[in-house]
Amino acid sequence: MAIKGEKMVARLILGKEVSEEIYGELRQRIAALKSRGVVPGLAVVLVGSDPASQVYVRKKGEMCESLGMRSVTIRMPEETTQAELLSKIGELNRDPSIHGFLVQLPLPKHLDEKEVINSIAPEKDADCFHPSNVGRMLIGEPLFLPATPAGVQQMLIRSGIETAGKHVVVVGRSNIVGKPMAAMMMQKGSGADSTVTVVHSRTKDLAAITRQADILIVAIGKPRFITADMVKEGAVVIDVGTNRIDDPSRPNGSRLVGDVDFEAVKDKASAISPVPGGVGPMTICMLMCNAVRAAEMAEADRR
Ligand code: GUN
Repeated sequence: MAIKGEKMVARLILGKEVSEEIYGELRQRIAALKSRGVVPGLAVVLVGSDPASQVYVRKKGEMCESLGMRSVTIRMPEETTQAELLSKIGELNRDPSIHGFLVQLPLPKHLDEKEVINSIAPEKDADCFHPSNVGRMLIGEPLFLPATPAGVQQMLIRSGIETAGKHVVVVGRSNIVGKPMAAMMMQKGSGADSTVTVVHSRTKDLAAITRQADILIVAIGKPRFITADMVKEGAVVIDVGTNRIDDPSRPNGSRLVGDVDFEAVKDKASAISPVPGGVGPMTICMLMCNAVRAAEMAEADRR
């Protein structure tokens, strides 16, 4: 604890370190599967040529291969029809060598994202976006966990941060981060058992609520939205934001910042995840966990 009047210097929670630990465990699980004749296979479907998606998809494939998993990348043209995409998903649903897969989002505007997600077999849904998997997670019987919130939870657990009985404030209510994050932290069990409040763009006096957080998890997509006056002394702050802002001093003219004003908040928090280097590396790591889990479930079914 900080002594009154003294500056607190926050401990850094680094996704790179946490993910290395998890990759070590995954390598053992992959080796165990291989000894039983199963090579976990993850497929990623990319429709169109969104530049950010290209980078994410490449990174997912490289990570699969570095872990000794089978990686399949399916690139489909921008003009792909809904029927063609659904047909490809049907093939992947039936392919026994593909244990998990995902369709990279966002999709081109003419495609129906909801129908696409609904057509993925829930037992192969590596993103945990299918409504049946979201429901299972909510009732505490998950097949998979959504990658980014699961990554945040692992960062808390593996940094030894107590969550039971703590007030977790989640800033943001997206289907990918805010909503599942809140649902996970209120479950019974390790890395959860928290009292959860969700705040968002329509919340009145948002700062009065964030100041009550023992653990503040921010995923609102606004650069440096959380300032020091919005954070309680000694809070744990996890920044899920990745915002690209102009920076003429950089060779490419821009840099990444989080949703938290890191420089100011680090002197008030007891622990904080930076951007970049914080949550970032955890998302792919937890996707790999889901792919390995899908292979383990398929193998258990086969026996
Ligand atoms: N686009 C950005 N993040 C994600 C993700 O986690 N999964 C998918 N399918 N698309 C994304």
